[in-house]
Amino acid sequence: MNYETDILKLFDEKWALVTAGDLDDFNAMTISWGGMGTLWNKPVATVYVKPVRYTHEFMEANDYFTVSFFDEKYRKALSVMGTKSGRDCDKVALAGLTPVRIGDGIVGYVQAASTLVCRKIYRQDLDTGAMPEAVIERYYEEEAPHTMYIGEIVGIG
Ligand SMILES: Cc1cc2nc3c(=O)[nH]c(=O)nc-3n(C[C@H](O)[C@H](O)[C@H](O)COP(=O)(O)O)c2cc1C
Repeated sequence: MNYETDILKLFDEKWALVTAGDLDDFNAMTISWGGMGTLWNKPVATVYVKPVRYTHEFMEANDYFTVSFFDEKYRKALSVMGTKSGRDCDKVALAGLTPVRIGDGIVGYVQAASTLVCRKIYRQDLDTGAMPEAVIERYYEEEAPHTMYIGEIVGIG
């Protein structure tokens, strides 16, 4: 059986923006690790954010996050969002993206092709004790492992 489908390439090849916070105080970054599925009978999206990212603070402090997907013409904008830190600059402006308030503490983008609105229902720091040694060597020799956030998908726009 061939399990290769567009949905499996969605994060890995298409990338996305994860955004948390209010319109007047939010941060966002590019992600290529993540997924969608089911947990506790709810539709969910899972993202992985390293604690060193500025976005991590916003993921911790807020009850909602969004996952936004863009057409190929925004690849450069997503590169900017994935290489600059919101700590140092207004990278959303640099990327040429227009943030938009979707709800209370929920931010998306005018340019997004689709946006998942996610209510945070679970978070956990990935445990190096439960990982293959090769993964630790490749990804976590210098920085603490990603935090996994699972959000119930409460809206799709
Ligand atoms: C294509 C791409 C995919 C990325 N995927 C992830 C990811 O899944 N998780 C993560 O923690 N960082 C990921 N990053 C790195 C962050 O996007 C990057 O460090 C960003 O500058 C963090 O911004 P911030 O400090 O404003 O939060 C990715 C970067 C790129 C370019």
